[in-house]
Order: sequence, then C-alpha cells, then structure tokens
Amino acid sequence: MPDTTDPLFRPLTLGGLDLPNRIVMPPMTRSRASQPGDVPNRLMAEYYAQRAGAGLIVSEGTWIAPMGKGYAWTPGIHTPEQVAGWRLVTDAVHAAGGRIFAQLWHVGRLSHTSLLGGRSPVSSSALQAEGVNVFVADGDGMPGFVQASMPRALTAAEVREVVEQFRQAARNAAEAGFDGVELHAANGYLVNQFIDSHANDRSDEYGGSLENRLRFLGEVARALADGVGDARRVGIRLAPLTTLNGCVDADPETTYTAAAKLLGEIGVAYIHIAEADWDDAPDMPVAFKRRLREVFPGVLIYAGKYTGERARQALVEGWADLIAFGRAFVANPDLPDRLRLDARLNAHDRDTLFGGGAHGLTDYPVLAASRA
Ligand SMILES: Cc1cc2nc3c(=O)[nH]c(=O)nc-3n(C[C@H](O)[C@H](O)[C@H](O)COP(=O)(O)O)c2cc1C
Repeated sequence: MPDTTDPLFRPLTLGGLDLPNRIVMPPMTRSRASQPGDVPNRLMAEYYAQRAGAGLIVSEGTWIAPMGKGYAWTPGIHTPEQVAGWRLVTDAVHAAGGRIFAQLWHVGRLSHTSLLGGRSPVSSSALQAEGVNVFVADGDGMPGFVQASMPRALTAAEVREVVEQFRQAARNAAEAGFDGVELHAANGYLVNQFIDSHANDRSDEYGGSLENRLRFLGEVARALADGVGDARRVGIRLAPLTTLNGCVDADPETTYTAAAKLLGEIGVAYIHIAEADWDDAPDMPVAFKRRLREVFPGVLIYAGKYTGERARQALVEGWADLIAFGRAFVANPDLPDRLRLDARLNAHDRDTLFGGGAHGLTDYPVLAASRA
C-alpha cells in the first residue's frame, strides 16, 4: 500500500500513466552518447534504469536534427541508430518499473560552427548569445566551453521546417518506446529564443506581438501531440524568470501566463517550470505560481534546488503537483527511498557531470551500500 500520508508518495495519473509518487527526475545532459553518431547506449540505459523509482523520468535533452545540436557527445533522436539506442533505455526503464519521457531539444543559437559542420547556428534572430556557453570537443577530443557562434535568423519557411522536424522527432520517440515527450522551451534554447522579447526582433508572424512570439511554441506543441498521437503525452518545459544564455523577457509574468493558457487550450499534460539552472535561481513569487495554476488545467511540475521539505510544502500548498530533483538524482539513484526515510544524500561530483564513462554516472551507492 502506498504511504498516502506523505504528500511526496501520493499517486498521480499523468496523461493516462499511473505515477506512484510525486518525484520527477528532470532532464539532465550527461554527454555520454556513443561516438560516432551520438547514439544512446547500454551505459545510459543502466543509469536511467537505476533511477526508475522516480514517478517520472525525463531524459536528457535529445536533439531533433543536426542543426539542433549544441554540445559535444549529446544524443540525437533523428537517425535509426539513435532511435534503436533509445529503445535500450526505454526497455531498461520499463523493465525496472519506471516511466520515461524524451526531452526534445533544438538549441538554436546556443551552438558553434564546429558542431554544425561549419554552418552558422540558427535562431529567431541574428542576435548572438553572450558568454562562454557551448561545450565542444577539439580535434583531439579535449572538451571545453567556448562562446556560441553568431547565428542567422530562420526564414518563416524554415521555421515551419523545424516544426516538421519536431513532429518527426515525436514519432521517433514513440517508436523508441518513450511514454511521451517533453519540449525543451526553457533555458535559452530555440523555442525560448522565440518567446522572450529580448531574443526575438522579428517583424513577421513569429515576432513582435506576444501572440506572434508564442506562435512557434504553439505550432511545435501541436506537432508533438500529433507526432505521439495524443496531447496528453506531451509536456512543455518553460523557464519564465531565468535569464540563461541571454534569453530575457520584458514582462515574464504576462508572457508565461499567456503561454500556459495557450498550452492548456492545446491540452498538453504538463508544464515543467525550471526555476533554477545551477546558481541562476531568481525567486519565483508564489502569486505567479498560483496564477499559472489558475490558467493551466494540467499538471504543474517545478524544479530548482528543492529539498524534501520544500517539495512537501509546495505540494501541500497546492501550486505544484510534482517536484523534480536534478542534482540530487545524479548522486542518489535511490532518491525516492532516501526522501521517504529522510536519509542523508550523497553529494554529486561536478567533474563527472559531462562526458566520461561509468564513473560518476552509474557508480553512486544506494542506501544499503552507502551505509555498509
Ligand atoms: C548536469 C546537468 C545537466 C542538465 N541538463 C539539462 C537538460 O538537458 N535539459 C534541461 O531542461 N535542463 C537541464 N538541466 C537542469 C535540470 O533539469 C534542473 O532544472 C536543475 O538541475 C535544477 O534542479 P536541481 O537544483 O534540483 O538540480 C541540467 C542540470 C544539470 C545539473
């Protein structure tokens, strides 16, 4: 019998899936896809299966087309080999009793010519992201961060081609056995580059007014629903207040309330709010969260520096339905057990987050082993 006295362990139905608890493993890039070809592999399958105790796992960002790639060694979902690789992951998670959505990603301007066969990245506008923010490997395989290259603006016809790439990626995710897809519309990537006013200076139907800046989001959300065959198998990740990678909006509360309303009309299963990415953690007022609850009829997930205590409080206060724990899940494959018992958490090792092999990915101890 589930322990329904603990708010973190009350079951929830999400898009027809029965989640045994309110704990989400959010998308986390770990840069361990097999080379060449950026193919998901058995090591990644083992890593995700170890974390199948989560109510829901969202995969690391997986790019939908070659121009959507922004970081070395990240997995794609557009070749037959990549789809077969993801099948290893979904089969392993399902065999371990879990549920997993694929996070579909197009980085837009957050890329570098060296990752794109010499081509310039694409974006809503020809505006370069500031800062040293793209992870590349040089010819000798040495990793490092560099500044994103100057992008060019997509034409309206090209924007519609990207919508079709998202539709195909959703079909591929269904073929790979995912339970659904999450659109990465947060953290400064392509969809975010259309939504936020300071990243979008277009004057066609994809820029200018709020309605126009949300057009690409709406078109992609509908394409994903079509691709997986059911809007209830689609979630959307948004980051209203973070200013990551130069995506800043002049009036986030108005913009993201309108986005949530639009997504509710489309009928997606959930909105996943990224409150923090690393230390970029502006305080999101509870009044704003309650406003999202008013306009969006689906499930609301929040992520960003949550502890068990803060998560329970959010669930009890009613503005969140699910809480995601990122870095805690990196280091604690049995995180739900630890939260249930209020047990100590392993700390994550920053040096093994991106790239490498099993060390720092699949070798974190579970509770019995860490006690021994
Ligand atoms: C190693 C690492 C990789 C991440 N990669 C992604 C990603 O691919 N997509 C995404 O939406 N967020 C990504 N994030 C952000 C997390 O999903 C989450 O929002 C963030 O870690 C805050 O939660 P936390 O404080 O519980 O760690 C990443 C975070 C970490 C630590």
